[in-house]
Amino acid sequence: MARLVGGVGTSHVPSIGAAVDLGKTQEPYWKPLFAGYGPARQWMNDVAPDVAIIVYNDHASAFSLDLISTFLIGVADEFQPADEGYGPRTVPCVAGDSKLAWHLAESLILDEFDMAIANKMPVDHGLTVPLSIMCGQPNIWPCKVIPLCVNVIQYPPPTGLRCYKLGKAIRRALDIYEEDLKVVILGTGGMSHQLQGERAGLINEEFDINFLDQLSSNPDWVANISHEEYLMEAGSEGIEMVMWMTMRGALDVNVKEVYRHYHVPASNTAAGLIILENNDVGIRK
Ligand code: DHB
Ligand code: FE
Repeated sequence: MARLVGGVGTSHVPSIGAAVDLGKTQEPYWKPLFAGYGPARQWMNDVAPDVAIIVYNDHASAFSLDLISTFLIGVADEFQPADEGYGPRTVPCVAGDSKLAWHLAESLILDEFDMAIANKMPVDHGLTVPLSIMCGQPNIWPCKVIPLCVNVIQYPPPTGLRCYKLGKAIRRALDIYEEDLKVVILGTGGMSHQLQGERAGLINEEFDINFLDQLSSNPDWVANISHEEYLMEAGSEGIEMVMWMTMRGALDVNVKEVYRHYHVPASNTAAGLIILENNDVGIRK
């Protein structure tokens, strides 16, 4: 079976990617943020997953507002970095796992999650920045990646609860996969931030820390945070945090928090990162 060993929740701020690409990670503004990413990279390196499922949102890079799917899975063998207006990031092409992705698509759809399917799509900062955070700057990414997009751009996005249930369905699919694989799942976006309007620049540290505190031991409570609460407490772009709930839903009920990093500010956001491990998974075997 595909053994899910752990999950990562992390911000995906585009300028974090730019700081990596332009060699600015040791500059005073970025240094404390990147110092906190060291142990996360070590974890990723130690775990050495075969596949990372990355739950993220496309920011109108692959899909314009002409076509909006609530949930979408990428089944291609490769995904090129998207051109988001400044040329594509100079990061490696992302290798997919078509076989596992098609298995997930079939299992999720038969499990009543009506996924859209992408045979070809570029991947934007929502996916490539978390890879840079977790893997640094290798010549090729150290694992295959299955992109799973969630619409949080155009109202109405799915609820946190729906995203959590999607995570549980992903886990059911992994548990019946025929091949032995080691898998991690990433939920990206957040934490509190608002990029526009009167409250642009909003950061709510109390909300974010409580979210991180409750995620491991009280996931049902976190899954029931409403759209209105995200909007009020975490700002309009704080809604990205529903994608962390897909990651949490895929994990065991009981998980171990093995690492956390929280830093303000990273661009307009509070940058958060958490690593949760399933229990008794023989994670490094
Ligand atoms: C920023 C954060 C995001 O999550 C995003 O998708 C775009 C920009 C920012 O803080 O600059
Ligand atoms: Fe974003």
